[in-house]
Amino acid sequence: MLTASEIQNTVNEYLNKLSYNRKPASLYAPIQYVLSMGGKRIRPVLMLLSYNLYKNDPETILSTACALETYHNYTLLHDDLMDNADVRRGHDTVHKKWNANTAILSGDSMLVMAYERIMQCDEDKLRPVLSLFTETALEIGEGQQYDMDFETRNDVTEDEYIEMIRLKTSVLLACAMKMGAILADAPAEDAENLYKFGEQMGLAFQLQDDFLDVYGDPKVFGKAIGGDITSNKKTYMLINAYQRADADQRVELDKWLGLDKFDKQEKIKAVTHLYDTIGIKHLCEEKIAYYFSEANRYLNKVNVAENSKYNLKYFAESLMKRNY
Ligand code: IPE
Ligand code: IPE
Ligand code: MG
Ligand code: MG
Ligand code: MG
Repeated sequence: MLTASEIQNTVNEYLNKLSYNRKPASLYAPIQYVLSMGGKRIRPVLMLLSYNLYKNDPETILSTACALETYHNYTLLHDDLMDNADVRRGHDTVHKKWNANTAILSGDSMLVMAYERIMQCDEDKLRPVLSLFTETALEIGEGQQYDMDFETRNDVTEDEYIEMIRLKTSVLLACAMKMGAILADAPAEDAENLYKFGEQMGLAFQLQDDFLDVYGDPKVFGKAIGGDITSNKKTYMLINAYQRADADQRVELDKWLGLDKFDKQEKIKAVTHLYDTIGIKHLCEEKIAYYFSEANRYLNKVNVAENSKYNLKYFAESLMKRNY
């Protein structure tokens, strides 16, 4: 049984060894750049840990696992462009270092490469794997569109937010778990429970990402703090702050949400202060813990020896304590 950090190292080695011999270099250099600057490698790690519940040769599905990482990094190139984010993993984002067209086109090629890498899996698994991946990728596009549509709406409900993050983030973690199970010939019931585990983990994970966007330490988070506040992202925190605000606090929130021109740091400070006084931090932490416990409920249903789940449980727990 491999630990998550052993898998993470194997994934990094595999990604670093990939060669990009095609031309033009201007298309491929950004791809290599983003894939080599670290990241937690959660999706391939989850997939390999899931596979490892049933089979002892996870190295045989590395290409397919790295396909998900390639796909994830493609979404980041486009997401950073859409979110106007200049920093990722402590480095300039691709559109910042190069330009928007580069982020679009190199991103598109990464999506295609993801398919190329996925196709290296066992031929008899190709159809279920590709159909799971394609459905997931469509859902992620839907989630990203909701995320953007919500920026200009002020009546987004908590349920709509949860569904949006399920689509933009959770389904890829769920897909990673289920793909590992499919490739390992796991029973269908286990594959579904592993999918649900990934989905609930994904909800906790995105809630935490939103939380860290406000309360993270800028030195370790790797992204600019407050980006969600400046772009009026309808996060769990904002939705709940709005609902729980008293009349004065709501006027203040409305003012900041309505301003077209503002000093970014001033807005971040003011909205964070409102979150603090309304008591949003604790509420968000409770919600994260809730989804984490839901995830474990599904993992407990998976029909393999309890001790073989140790690495997966340990990894999930360490993710919940992350600060980047
Ligand atoms: C960032 O994903 C995008 C979200 C879904 C929140 P990660 O937090 O997994 O980013 P890296 O790959 O570790 O940098
Ligand atoms: C990203 O959500 C989800 C996807 C990339 C599909 P965020 O926009 O919150 O991710 P970060 O904070 O930029 O990593
Ligand atoms: Mg973003
Ligand atoms: Mg985004
Ligand atoms: Mg975020």
